[in-house]
Amino acid sequence: MSNEKFRAILVSESGGKEFKREIANRSISDLPEGEVLVKVEYSSLNYKDALSASGDRGVTRNFPHTPGVDAAGTVEETSTIDFNKGDKVIVHGYDLGMNTSGGFGQYIRVPSEWVLNLPDGLSAKEAMMFGTAGFTAALSIFRLNENKITPVSGKILVTGATGGVGSMAVAILAKSGFEIVASTGKMEQAEFLKSIGATEVISREDSTDNTGKLLLKGNWAGVVDTVGGDILATAIKSTNQRGVVTTCGNVASHDLSINVYPFILRGVTLVGIDSASCPMQRRIKIWEMMATSWKLENLEKLTRTVTLDKLDNEIDTILKGGQVGRVVVDLWA
Ligand SMILES: NC(=O)c1ccc[n+]([C@@H]2O[C@H](COP(=O)([O-])OP(=O)(O)OC[C@H]3O[C@@H](n4cnc5c(N)ncnc54)[C@H](OP(=O)(O)O)[C@@H]3O)[C@@H](O)[C@H]2O)c1
Repeated sequence: MSNEKFRAILVSESGGKEFKREIANRSISDLPEGEVLVKVEYSSLNYKDALSASGDRGVTRNFPHTPGVDAAGTVEETSTIDFNKGDKVIVHGYDLGMNTSGGFGQYIRVPSEWVLNLPDGLSAKEAMMFGTAGFTAALSIFRLNENKITPVSGKILVTGATGGVGSMAVAILAKSGFEIVASTGKMEQAEFLKSIGATEVISREDSTDNTGKLLLKGNWAGVVDTVGGDILATAIKSTNQRGVVTTCGNVASHDLSINVYPFILRGVTLVGIDSASCPMQRRIKIWEMMATSWKLENLEKLTRTVTLDKLDNEIDTILKGGQVGRVVVDLWA
């Protein structure tokens, strides 16, 4: 296989701070060392991919580079006994798509520790409909559950609700019987959010407190925050006694201006979500839940599928915060 060519998005420096994206023919021999060569059938677009695809050195240090933190496909070659040629697998997170050639190419080669078997009950395409965004939403909800937040605890706030992680969180929470308040900058998508399970939709402005108060009226038993900044600070101050807030994203800001009162007067718990480095045992457990009790009947409604040629526009849209739901990439169409 070593001389075989495959198609991939290649991001390269085009002078100064400019970066260009093109579809290139790459060789299997260009791929890094690793025990498992995977023929990628589907990938998906996540915010981090758009950062890598636009030259963000906080995500990718060296270019030229093929982004894509997600991949699902078939093992083509393996030098480990843990996998066999023909196995259906998922790879996501770790260093995939960051400094390791990623899922926006038809092949990846990775360490075997990054690879997990596709669970029964999910196709490769369905796995990438969830993708890192769905996994992150599921991990956030798993952590709420671990901290004893159940549907009887009260309402859950989801921020950045039309985005990849946000929309998946709304849908999985709804499937689990939670009452969900969705916060969005796209009020015109309120009907979409209700159709996937939100009980109530509030605007980004209504989710941001400008009074400077140290504590606000308690509204939430739990929060799945995907945006950070003032919206997260407001959410923490509005969380009920012994409520739990998860934080995974920074699209609004990486800053968090907060005081200690929500923690020392209301016992609020702030839980960090790190999907890329999630330990394999927990990763497998969460994928099994996404394939069974958390499997979404409305995955099609939450996703659009594009080819590699159409990814460029989608990358620009996600960078502007304009995506609704998830974008799946079909590598061979
Ligand atoms: N920690 C982890 O393990 C992990 C894993 C995956 C993703 N993430 C992070 O989670 C975040 C979401 O990722 P994603 O792939 O779901 O991205 P996405 O699809 O672009 O969703 C982000 C959503 O946030 C809202 N938003 C955008 N810009 C905003 C702004 N300036 N202020 C407030 N809200 C804004 C928008 O939703 P509305 O218009 O509905 O408000 C947007 O659709 C990113 O920061 C990403 O890096 C972290």
